[in-house]
Amino acid sequence: MLSAQERAHVAQVWDLIAGHEAAFGAELLLRLFTVYPSTKIYFKHLGVCPDEAQLLTHGQRVLQAVGVAVQHTDHLRAALSPLADLHAQVLRVDPANFPLLIQCFHVMLASHLQGEFTVQMQAAWDKFLTEVAMVLTEKYR
Ligand code: HEM
Repeated sequence: MLSAQERAHVAQVWDLIAGHEAAFGAELLLRLFTVYPSTKIYFKHLGVCPDEAQLLTHGQRVLQAVGVAVQHTDHLRAALSPLADLHAQVLRVDPANFPLLIQCFHVMLASHLQGEFTVQMQAAWDKFLTEVAMVLTEKYR
């Protein structure tokens, strides 16, 4: 559960992302597929080198879902339930992939926000994204 201060840090960063979900999301996926090529096995339909339109479309979906999570930090399980069904029961994404995506998320934020991305913001986003990942993977059990 995030503290009030952590929620404020998450919201403050989200204000800078909102409206740019496709661009940020595409960069996130490009980093994920390039730095951790094993993640690409889940996206065979995107081709070996996904084109920009494909990255933008899926990236936007992922970031919009993160935006929903930002609005529901206290009710993540309910807010993300259909997405949890999809990842755990339909896509069967190995939970080991989520920390890789979180790592890329931090780098993506840092590359855009630079000095504005404080240590406290990173800590809050790490906790928040870890909670999101837990919800998206817990339905295996
Ligand atoms: C699909 C969000 C992590 C693999 C999706 C969709 C969303 C989403 C919103 C589209 C759902 C729909 O079309 O109804 C997220 C979020 C994540 C996350 C918020 C973590 C914070 C991952 C990870 C992987 C992954 C780590 C694997 C490396 C997939 C795949 C699809 C998908 C294969 C289906 C793509 C398609 O049908 O074109 N995800 N995801 N996701 N996700 Fe995730």
